[in-house]
Amino acid sequence: MCGIVGYVGKNNGVPVVMEGLQRLEYRGYDSCGIALLNGGGIELEKVTGKVSELMQTIAPRQMKSGVAIGHTRWATHGMPSRANAHPHISQDGKIAVVHNGIIENYKVLRDELENTGYIFSSETDTEVLAALICQAYSGNLEHAVREALSYVVGAYGLAIIHADEPEKIVCTRKGAPLIMAVGEDEYFVASDVAAILKYSKNVIYLENDEIGVITRDGIKTYSSDDEQISKKIHKITFKLEEVEKSGYEHFMLKEIFSQPQTIYDAMRGRLLPEEGNAHLGGIDHMTGAILHADQRYFTACGTSWHAALIGEMMFEQFARLPCEVEYASEFRYREPLVDAKSIVFAISQSGETADTLAAIQEAKQRDAKVLGICNVVGSSIARETEAGVYIHAGPEIGVASTKAFTSQVTVLSLLTLKLARLMGMSQENGKAICQSLQKLPENVEWVLKQADQIAEIAKLYSDASNFLYLGRGVNFPVALEGALKLKEISYIHAEGYPAAEMKHGPIALIDESMPIVAIAPQDKTYDKLISNIEEVKARKGRVIALATQGDERIKDIADHVLYVPPALSFTAPILNVIPLQLLSYYIAVERGCNVDQPRNLAKSVTVE
Ligand code: G6P
Repeated sequence: MCGIVGYVGKNNGVPVVMEGLQRLEYRGYDSCGIALLNGGGIELEKVTGKVSELMQTIAPRQMKSGVAIGHTRWATHGMPSRANAHPHISQDGKIAVVHNGIIENYKVLRDELENTGYIFSSETDTEVLAALICQAYSGNLEHAVREALSYVVGAYGLAIIHADEPEKIVCTRKGAPLIMAVGEDEYFVASDVAAILKYSKNVIYLENDEIGVITRDGIKTYSSDDEQISKKIHKITFKLEEVEKSGYEHFMLKEIFSQPQTIYDAMRGRLLPEEGNAHLGGIDHMTGAILHADQRYFTACGTSWHAALIGEMMFEQFARLPCEVEYASEFRYREPLVDAKSIVFAISQSGETADTLAAIQEAKQRDAKVLGICNVVGSSIARETEAGVYIHAGPEIGVASTKAFTSQVTVLSLLTLKLARLMGMSQENGKAICQSLQKLPENVEWVLKQADQIAEIAKLYSDASNFLYLGRGVNFPVALEGALKLKEISYIHAEGYPAAEMKHGPIALIDESMPIVAIAPQDKTYDKLISNIEEVKARKGRVIALATQGDERIKDIADHVLYVPPALSFTAPILNVIPLQLLSYYIAVERGCNVDQPRNLAKSVTVE
């Protein structure tokens, strides 16, 4: 989604902002721009396309300034075009605004402003903000911003400059992420820490409707009531290498291969193998409430929703605790049966997904206890939830989520183990689960060794137009996730199905042009899945099977077999998803797709 970077300091902010924009490219965007204060006024440049094109455009101009703001835009209101790209300039040419989010009442505001003679030069909702601030301005930018926002309904992360206050950036947020950071005689604003990590690890999180005023003398913050407040500076713990490719061709590949480590990190200090139990510091005190809740919900979007489906199955099978999974976007509008005796788990990699945040608000309004399972430390969801667990996967840059998924499922396994033990699971069974979890990093390494074989298979199927993924039990969400990965990065239509459901529709699609990925480990539904594969073969479908190491029988019926080590259903989804991640990665590479930044997608969807 859109990205914001701003700089105020002793150095030239232009290269800092440009580099920051490049580090935000992973979030997905279609146009970009930069504005700076040059003493005489605002200098602006915008392009449709990549930050590298913006760099080429500005190179001859040798733009230089100690105050600059930049933006990568993911189109919502109006097509990707130079006019619609940010920054947006007010009619008097004095104000530049970059904005993430959506102004919901922009049409009404725009009509009113046009009636007063204001002339707009873009189709965006953001330009309304530039106009409102311009009308409200009487010598103090932060006051004008505050007044302008009083007319606005919607979500925003904003950074604004004014030609008459040449050493200042004003920033604020509501519902969209925005941080400020403190360097040495230089200060930053960004929608994502990755943009400024090279320069500062000292970060200030703005809360909804707080205003930050950044000048060369430092940062001042104001509460929503306009009182000056002092804010805590948080130290970012991850390193710059974590947001770089480190020799891999793509971030996605790096992230797939980092999973032995990230899964280990998700468990580190949390597994109690001697006791056959787990300990999750952030929510241990909530286990009583979880056990005794009248309703338990998982809510999430995208890949995190698939992790939630696995969580639901594990909770019910092992802890015997009923729960429901809801798309966050649906939860909010369906009058959920949630009250003070309900627990809602919000699962999110970014911690900024607008629909998930809205679901949290809905649950809180109904007095439910809301817990978070997040990756990004200090993110909005982490802050909006009562308690939670971090998955510690480190920054995930590839738009298609991989390592965050396996870490989410790992944390859900730990949580299930803890609850299951409280619900009567024997210590012996708990120990077996601990052993299986401990072996996960090694087993993931083993699966990753098949990358070359998977790359060869990918070559044979990269021209397919459709794929079907089949799995049962905990492997049904894995099938959904495998299909989602393929859709996201290779643009091949793919669907995940519970294997037995194939007979109720999808079988009509099967012919020699339809590859089927069958997740067929040797568990209690193995024979049934083999029958499904036979049904596919009888219709000339081509089968890529995922099987348990040592299964020779399946070789006779499937066209290709990929193996995973034997696993309990606690760890099976984690192992089984890895070959599917690799398959979609190599197919996308074969098709020449932009793996890390697939078209139309965003890493973090901060609009509803
Ligand atoms: C976007 C991303 C997906 C992600 C989903 C939910 O669609 O492209 O990879 O699964 O948002 O994001 P979250 O950060 O809440 O897990």
